[in-house]
Amino acid sequence: MPHNESLKDYQRVRLLAIRSLFEIIEQSSEGTVIVDRDANIVWMNERYARRFGLESAAQALGRACESVIPGSLLREVVRSGRPILLDMQDTPKEPLVVMRLPIHDDAGAVIGAIGFALFDELRSLSPMLKRYMSMQEELASTRSLLRARQAKYTFAHFIGTSAASLEVKRRARRGASADSPVLLLGETGTGKELLAQAIHGASPRAHKAFVSINSAAIPENLLEAEFFGTAPGAFTGADRKGRTGKLQIAQGGTLFLDEIGDMPLPLQSKLLRVLQEKEFEPLGSNEVIHSDVRVIAATSTDLQAAIGRGEFRADLYYRLNVLPIQVPPLRERLDDLPALSEAILEELRSQHELDRDALALLGRHAWPGNIRELRNVLERAALLSDDLLLGAPAIAAAIGTLSPLQPSPAPATTVLEGETFSAARQRFERQLIEATLAQCGGKVSEAAQRLGLGRSTLYKKMLALGIAESH
Ligand SMILES: Nc1ncnc2c1ncn2[C@@H]1O[C@H](COP(=O)(O)OP(=O)(O)OP(=O)(O)O)[C@@H](O)[C@H]1O
Ligand SMILES: [Mg+2]
Repeated sequence: MPHNESLKDYQRVRLLAIRSLFEIIEQSSEGTVIVDRDANIVWMNERYARRFGLESAAQALGRACESVIPGSLLREVVRSGRPILLDMQDTPKEPLVVMRLPIHDDAGAVIGAIGFALFDELRSLSPMLKRYMSMQEELASTRSLLRARQAKYTFAHFIGTSAASLEVKRRARRGASADSPVLLLGETGTGKELLAQAIHGASPRAHKAFVSINSAAIPENLLEAEFFGTAPGAFTGADRKGRTGKLQIAQGGTLFLDEIGDMPLPLQSKLLRVLQEKEFEPLGSNEVIHSDVRVIAATSTDLQAAIGRGEFRADLYYRLNVLPIQVPPLRERLDDLPALSEAILEELRSQHELDRDALALLGRHAWPGNIRELRNVLERAALLSDDLLLGAPAIAAAIGTLSPLQPSPAPATTVLEGETFSAARQRFERQLIEATLAQCGGKVSEAAQRLGLGRSTLYKKMLALGIAESH
């Protein structure tokens, strides 16, 4: 029979091809393993055994496949009777491309499975493999970024059962299920950021990023780049490579616009466009990016007054004011003091408790720094007192050290002739802030704590007063 004649008989060709296929795969295989119908190893080549840390293949015989090859799917192949033609298998060295096939007896019943590890094929697959690896890396880093960007507060963290607190929580919960903007209004330290995170966490966007941007903490000239990002090559220096803006990082998730009252007017216009058109352009690029973010804004300043002064756009205000939530100051929800104090002491892992006089004293303080200030007072009182039952004197001492605005023996304030009220106030604020910063070694967050102010509020004041941050 001439050569090509022998290729005309399909049944015969099929058998030849099967043999070739098997031989080629077996020869180029880095490893071969065969299991029985219980997925116990009945045969393994020496090379493959060594890859998994065995001295010889004999040590693998009779063992469950997964106990030798972690993550092996041969049991699945035996169970389902379906092959897994191409897959990746992790090994102690590099990952391998593997093929897993069921083995049938003459009657067609599955009696086991065979697995090939195609190491040599891997080299030819190397461009694909590189992509796979880089995608894996990207995935891992995105996952960890996302974890870092996920909200750490839930509604359960917002302590308070006073009528005012319950109303805040009710509105915030309602806000979570909507996708429209939420506007959180309230003094410093009242829990606006906590609520923003809780709303995100209870919203359908919870599995995506929660990204915050603080208009008061970032110098005005950097804010737009921070917001929209920059295109590669658009700028010299550090930004040459381009930078991803917060708006893009928040895609699919929630963008928290903290201290929105301090947003410069030009950026307000651009933000309005984002809210209306749902698109934006990174600085220095012509590319228009579709934006899908849910906006939660917060402010401790009076936006209506800012509109009156021409510092805040009225149209932006109406856009943001879809679901306003007024977060009450602590002095208007004194009923919450016992529960708040208990929760804070617990969170501080302190064993301390407050006696009745201490609680009564807490109820008489004005709490300009609200819950943040309460936290600082309790932390300080617990730190200073060996007695686990904190009394009024301990609280008084802690409040005293924390409120330089009303020091116990108040030093006389200098009165300069002809000085206006606002000039005097500025002078006092400057002295106070500079002195506190000096006491805290220039650390803004620590100074903010001592003053019972939010870090961003202090930054804002420093900017306004021209006090430089020392490094
Ligand atoms: N209802 C509450 N229950 C428990 N802890 C709270 C509550 N409200 C605020 N806190 C705590 O007080 C601190 C300040 O809260 P948060 O940062 O949310 O305030 P804020 O309103 O954003 O203040 P600022 O305007 O200064 O930025 C945080 O440590 C927060 O966990
Ligand atoms: Mg805040």
